[in-house]
Amino acid sequence: MTFKKRILCIGAGYVGGPTMAVIADKSPDVRVELVDINAERIAAWNSDHLPIYEPGLDEVVKRNRGKNLFFTTDTDRGIAESDIIFVSVNTPTKTFGQGAGLAADLQYWEKTARQILRASTSDKIVVEKSTLPVRTAEAMDRILNSNGSGPHFEVLSNPEFLAEGTAIEDLLDPDRVLIGGMNTPKGQKALDDLEAVYASWVPRDRIIRTNVWSAELAKLVANAFLAQRVSSINAVSALCERTSADVGEVAHAIGLDSRIGPKFLKASVGFGGSCFRKDILNLVYICRQHGLAEVAAYWEAVVAMNDHQQDRFVARMISEMFNTVAGKRIAIFGFAFKADTGDTRESPAIRVCRHLLEERAEVCITDPKALDNAARDLGPDTPGVVHAQDPYKAAEGAHAIAVMTEWKDFQALDYQRIYDSMEKPAFVFDGRNILDHAKLHKIGFNVYPIGKAALTHV
Ligand code: NAD
Ligand code: UGA
Repeated sequence: MTFKKRILCIGAGYVGGPTMAVIADKSPDVRVELVDINAERIAAWNSDHLPIYEPGLDEVVKRNRGKNLFFTTDTDRGIAESDIIFVSVNTPTKTFGQGAGLAADLQYWEKTARQILRASTSDKIVVEKSTLPVRTAEAMDRILNSNGSGPHFEVLSNPEFLAEGTAIEDLLDPDRVLIGGMNTPKGQKALDDLEAVYASWVPRDRIIRTNVWSAELAKLVANAFLAQRVSSINAVSALCERTSADVGEVAHAIGLDSRIGPKFLKASVGFGGSCFRKDILNLVYICRQHGLAEVAAYWEAVVAMNDHQQDRFVARMISEMFNTVAGKRIAIFGFAFKADTGDTRESPAIRVCRHLLEERAEVCITDPKALDNAARDLGPDTPGVVHAQDPYKAAEGAHAIAVMTEWKDFQALDYQRIYDSMEKPAFVFDGRNILDHAKLHKIGFNVYPIGKAALTHV
């Protein structure tokens, strides 16, 4: 079959994989190829066991793989043959040198740019899909177009707003697709071409065109605003615990104000995920670079509050369990940073477990999808860490259950059976407020929700 267009995506991860699978699904006349330096990941994309868990993803991949959706490690060929190249490589927080702990580590990104330059023999549209500091497109443009006489590269910004666990839904029915380009004839033509890709299934009025810097910055700001809401409600949860107000009732009452809205007001043990923390810290770094110390401090407080919420959770566990958890088994219900994903990057469970291990507790982790990642995060064979696929096994002989992830499976368990198998007094620390607290209390548990009065038997 001859294809109308050829798209390449460099980086077959949580964003590249689902996004390209949906483009292929919606545009049978477009050839979509994904490449990655991680050969194991590519092999998994070509197997029955995809490298990431995401509801609905298996079906979309299997429907299109081998037809117009391909996964390979042959990056140079892929670059040479494509018209549009999405770059969706990881952009983690820098761990060394200038900006360590704050700035985005752009080494993978720059390597990709240089590889595109080396392997290209014709003009390309290069699309920033990764989340990048504002004005990265300028650096990209300078690297790519420094030759003068070679092919021309038009750099666009098209940040991704999907959330894990709902990636396919978000891609199929996005609130908006944001595309930013240069205000030149070539820039506008490239925007038209990219818009046409999305217009196969996204209504035109939801495809927003901006200048390239606004698109880059809007992505960082969207994540900062979302994380800020979680930190704000978590700050309120601490006050609720001191005043007998109920954070659920407060969130409901304020969320009915249409100016505030009801979403992203669930108090929790803290936000996790690969991006909120990294993107806010990146924003903080950019503000500092521009001499905006107060603006940087404002956003940095969102991350500080998130750390505090996790530390506060563990401190409460220790103090309520008679000031010691040493030698006590704690069942960790959930390790993923949110439900419906196996992703554990920056999961609050990591920090909570590390604190508990420092206090010499034994943690027994159960999670429907994230046990492999949990083992990697805490280190294989770490003393004090046990895994159990079955939550009943995880709770057996435990002094406490700590709910870290809002998996629905945890709501459906037989808590009388669990209670009977635990040490007494038995504690539940519900870091997601998902369980039926009154029912648990009636069974005999001492229950500690987030931002609500504890239900105890003493
Ligand atoms: P990821 O780590 O899952 O995937 C990135 C992939 O890029 C990896 O498989 C890695 O091997 C590959 N890679 C790195 N350098 C490469 C190179 N030179 N050539 C080929 N492959 C290379 O990361 P992700 O979660 O998909 O995130 C990618 C970007 O998207 C990040 O900038 C992130 O901030 C942003 N983002 C992520 C999400 C999310 O939900 N995870 C949502 C929106 C935006
Ligand atoms: C988030 C954004 O929602 C996406 O728009 C963005 O594309 C993505 O980051 C990214 O750039 O990586 P994601 O991290 O996958 O998506 O998941 P969210 O649903 O945003 O949840 C993030 C964290 O906040 C989770 O740990 C979640 O449990 C927590 N959260 C969320 C709360 O504690 N309370 C809430 O009310 C909402």
